[in-house]
Amino acid sequence: MKKFSQFLTAAIILLIVSSCQNKFNSLTDYSVIPQPYSLREGSQAFTLNGETRILISGDNIEGSAKVLQEYIQELAELKLDIVLQEEAKSLQNVILLSIISQEKRLGTEGYRMQVDRDKVLITSNDVDGVFYGVQTLFQLFELQDLNNENTNLIVPAIRVWDEPCFPYRGMHLDVCRHFFNVEFIKHYLDLMAYYKFNTFHWHLTEDQGWRIEIKKYPKLTEVGAWRLEKDGSRYGGFYTQEDIKEVVAYAEKLHITIIPEIEMPGHSRAAIAAYPELSCTGKTLEVPNNWGVFEDIYCAGNDKTFTFIEDVLDEVIDLFPGDYIHIGGDEAPKNRWEVCEKCQARMKEEGLKDEHELQSYFIKRIDAYLTSKGKKLMGWDEILEGGLAENATVMSWRGLDGGIAAARQGNQVVMTPGTHCYFDHYQADRAFEPKAIGGYTSLKKVYDFEPVPEDLFTEQKVLILGAQGNVWTEYMETEDYVEYMILPRMLALSEVLWGSKKNKNWEAFQIRLQDHFKLFDKKGFRYSKGTYRLSFETTFDSIENQKNIEISSEQFKPQIYYTLNGILPDTGAILYQGAIKVSAQDSLIRAGIFENGKLMQAASKMVINGK
Ligand code: ACM
Ligand code: ZN
Repeated sequence: MKKFSQFLTAAIILLIVSSCQNKFNSLTDYSVIPQPYSLREGSQAFTLNGETRILISGDNIEGSAKVLQEYIQELAELKLDIVLQEEAKSLQNVILLSIISQEKRLGTEGYRMQVDRDKVLITSNDVDGVFYGVQTLFQLFELQDLNNENTNLIVPAIRVWDEPCFPYRGMHLDVCRHFFNVEFIKHYLDLMAYYKFNTFHWHLTEDQGWRIEIKKYPKLTEVGAWRLEKDGSRYGGFYTQEDIKEVVAYAEKLHITIIPEIEMPGHSRAAIAAYPELSCTGKTLEVPNNWGVFEDIYCAGNDKTFTFIEDVLDEVIDLFPGDYIHIGGDEAPKNRWEVCEKCQARMKEEGLKDEHELQSYFIKRIDAYLTSKGKKLMGWDEILEGGLAENATVMSWRGLDGGIAAARQGNQVVMTPGTHCYFDHYQADRAFEPKAIGGYTSLKKVYDFEPVPEDLFTEQKVLILGAQGNVWTEYMETEDYVEYMILPRMLALSEVLWGSKKNKNWEAFQIRLQDHFKLFDKKGFRYSKGTYRLSFETTFDSIENQKNIEISSEQFKPQIYYTLNGILPDTGAILYQGAIKVSAQDSLIRAGIFENGKLMQAASKMVINGK
């Protein structure tokens, strides 16, 4: 009898536990973005208070502890003590950050997190992993705090096992078309770290402005950093080397590597405005105040060009500790080279058959220089033309083809195709959006991006390091507009880059996103709620001999009304609640999406004879 009652108790406990587990949905609960690889429910939540201490164990781990301390101080006005684990008197009421190299699979950026009533444990093989564990923990604090009346900060009872899908998780920013100050760059880096990006591609030189102080060539910023706008005003700005050092140190604290971009041979009008002898014609030109691709580029026949570039790169190399220097290489018209005596003489001397080979010579020469300095060259996919430099990493922007070609040659690749990764494109219907450069890259399109092309062999696939969101700022004059263009698309990209394929689920992402929108509202960030475009999907039900027409938009839980009588719907029309069934007759479906009772956009679908 006793045995039976023990069995019954065990069965009841099992039932309760399993029913709790059934309710728990690891893809939506707690709203962490990017979705951790594995998230399971634990038993008891952790409550933080003024007595909570951050314990640390392992080399170089204080940085992550300090980041966590600052986050909590800002959120809850509590300054937690940081204590070495071996000096701690108790393991109660602690957040323990610890490096324990025990799991190969976690790599350097993966981590484990375990939450119990009296402690939170974050362990990793390396400091990067602990840092990302801290990001997850802090998101949990913030997201719980949003939905919690309680004044205490709580971490839900969970177990996390997490690691990134890709080693390169990038965001780019063009600070040349429009200039953004150091404070904003730090804000951009904060957002990146929060969503587990690890690479900032800083586009520092362009036709319309040179933005980095180079001590040997002061005119680059005295002249090249300023343009006369069409209304007669002077526009510009630049970062001093002290500013750059401040940003690099800030990024380092956030485990972000900065890749500076110094454009060549094209997009170099600002440098040519400062030093006209760098171009083929030597003519004095102004810093342009319009957008586009310009014919005046660096002269590839003049050795002084290479001396100049090497001098500039020397200063850049001293400022940026990362492995890569991006040298641009895109959109360089060859008209000037075709008629330049020096360029033509160089081609003859080097046995180059056309100007593409001259560009390849140019990039290879810079590749050799960077390699000699212990750095790696990265460039846009045009660097493939005329022959790719041996050590170069290709950033594929004109689709995936450049990346595929580079991987087939054994070179490393970062995918940034315009179709999915250009955050200067419209993210929703133009009618409702501020002016953008063009294109259409919606949140769902970013979410659906797959950086690794299927038609590569396995050993080529590993050369795809990851992807990056590109933010060209021709039409982004202000900081809050930049914020609007990256939010929430960078969150979708973070799921592509950090998240695993097994967890990919658009609806679950959208549900989690709603809490991040609440966070953005609380923090005063500008963001897009997505597109109002309606789309129709038709499937045929052969049993019922009817068509099912599904209507959707990228809005979360869109309010859609429709009519079948040809009249434009209002909120008195039929509320869309699931697929519309159409059998043999012809039907015109007119649907509208509404927000607060207002028609935002309408669309129609003609279903002919049930076909
Ligand atoms: C580019 O968008 N021109 C790389
Ligand atoms: Zn020339």
